[in-house]
Amino acid sequence: MNTLLELSGVSVSFDGFRAINNLSFQIGEPELRAIIGPNGAGKTTFMDIITGKTRPDAGRVIFGEKSVSLLKMSESQIARSGIGRKFQKPTVFEAQTVRENLAMALSNPRGPFDVLIYRKTPTGAARIEEIADEIGLSDHLTRRSGELSHGQKQWLEIGMLLAQDPRLLLVDEPAAGMTPAEREHTTDLLKRAAQTRAVVVVEHDMEFVRRLDCKVTVLHEGSVLAEGSLDHVTKNKDVIDVYLGR
Ligand SMILES: Nc1ncnc2c1ncn2[C@@H]1O[C@H](COP(=O)(O)OP(=O)(O)OP(=O)(O)O)[C@@H](O)[C@H]1O
Ligand SMILES: [Mg+2]
Repeated sequence: MNTLLELSGVSVSFDGFRAINNLSFQIGEPELRAIIGPNGAGKTTFMDIITGKTRPDAGRVIFGEKSVSLLKMSESQIARSGIGRKFQKPTVFEAQTVRENLAMALSNPRGPFDVLIYRKTPTGAARIEEIADEIGLSDHLTRRSGELSHGQKQWLEIGMLLAQDPRLLLVDEPAAGMTPAEREHTTDLLKRAAQTRAVVVVEHDMEFVRRLDCKVTVLHEGSVLAEGSLDHVTKNKDVIDVYLGR
């Protein structure tokens, strides 16, 4: 497995508070990784640094076989180079159908242009069916996205990200607000997505993390506190003290 993304010695402070503190992290391709840790540990900030939303005060962030520095790239350049991010709140176009949303994501990585052209091409249509199948929305392609359940909207948004075929997918707290059945479907979907790419999932729900069945990184005060299998990290005394024992 090749390393796809590497952070080393990364720090960032907000008004003198060190949200990320000399953080080092690596993920391979393909790989599924869960990130856990208490509120304020720096999990979201970690994703903000990778996507270029937040610029670190120190450290390196290196991506791909050419070892390009993400710190020299704009947010949109980072997105175009194959890093997709899913925020907590789904941001699908509610007035459009599921098919139209997927068509938009396929047609242009950055915006809803050429939609009508793209969806009429045979490869575009086939790809939409494929993604719909992958996210479990094949029977909902003609529905308006606003009518979908919260979980279905989340899957659609993941599908829209997959349409852009990212090499690295970042997902922040996908299980929040989902029913148990939706959570189960979401773990399946993320595991499948991670067969061909790197996927980082931040999640508090331990059942969800257990089902992901992957290496876990525990963040605390902006650094890695422990790393390994879920069983390994949940036996770690420091992890119990700062996170599990709350
Ligand atoms: N833009 C910002 N300006 C000031 N402080 C910030 C900013 N972003 C994050 N922080 C602070 O940095 C710390 C880490 O926040 P972050 O959102 O990364 O934590 P988290 O691990 O995602 O927490 P949660 O589990 O609650 O989502 C927090 O103390 C937060 O208040
Ligand atoms: Mg967060």
